[in-house]
Amino acid sequence: METPLKHVALILDGNGRWAKQRNLPRSDGHKEGAKRAFEIAQHAFQHWHIPFVTFFAFSTENWQRPKLEVSTIFRLLNAHLKKQRANFIKEKIRLHTLGDIAQLPSNLYATLMDIKQVTSQFTKCNLVLALNYGAREEILRAIKLCTQASPTVQSLDWNTFSRYLYTADIPDPDLVIRTSGEIRLSNYLCLQSAYSELYFTPTYWPDFNKEAFNLAIENYKKRERRFGNAEQ
Ligand code: IPE
Ligand code: IPE
Ligand code: MG
Repeated sequence: METPLKHVALILDGNGRWAKQRNLPRSDGHKEGAKRAFEIAQHAFQHWHIPFVTFFAFSTENWQRPKLEVSTIFRLLNAHLKKQRANFIKEKIRLHTLGDIAQLPSNLYATLMDIKQVTSQFTKCNLVLALNYGAREEILRAIKLCTQASPTVQSLDWNTFSRYLYTADIPDPDLVIRTSGEIRLSNYLCLQSAYSELYFTPTYWPDFNKEAFNLAIENYKKRERRFGNAEQ
């Protein structure tokens, strides 16, 4: 039996190679990539009625990149979010974030907090940005918070522990999509994707369009999810 798709999580990879292929600066790849994310989210909400779409946009490891690339990514993201602010409201899309966003540049932090606040009453369509997110940081943070709240962890179960993850109010991803041909998770939602279906495509993120998204969903629909159970 097909499980309804509640959450698709994407790893937006290949912006740099997309630009290189065209003799463009890497920043052009990031600019194009930011546009694609909003388009794909709208398509997922409108066409597939998927309530949660998450994009891995900046990892805790991405700080290792040259300073100029890091600041450019944040600048482009901030500009794009500001441009889309009215659309978030018009289309009733709620913005969420995963990761320690307080460490981001203050203008980007302010934009994120503003859009999160003005969209907080929406429930149907949820666009989640993983920014300065890393699963290992998330797990350590959750352990610290959890043991602060209840120092005796003897009776701890998964339901209680998972409340301390960034994804406390977000269902586990049914499907994780990674573009650009890399076949790894790169510290993305490691615990939440324990039973996710994984889909890898060689397409670079800026070339990933609605048709490419549809192919991933069609592929997902053919899978049989067992969650440890016997074949049905
Ligand atoms: C993904 O594209 C965007 C981020 C990780 C911020 P990349 O910048 O990793 O592009 P490639 O992998 O170098 O092509
Ligand atoms: C993963 O892409 C992180 C994001 C898409 C934000 P990377 O390009 O950073 O991953 P690696 O370095 O190839 O594993
Ligand atoms: Mg990459």
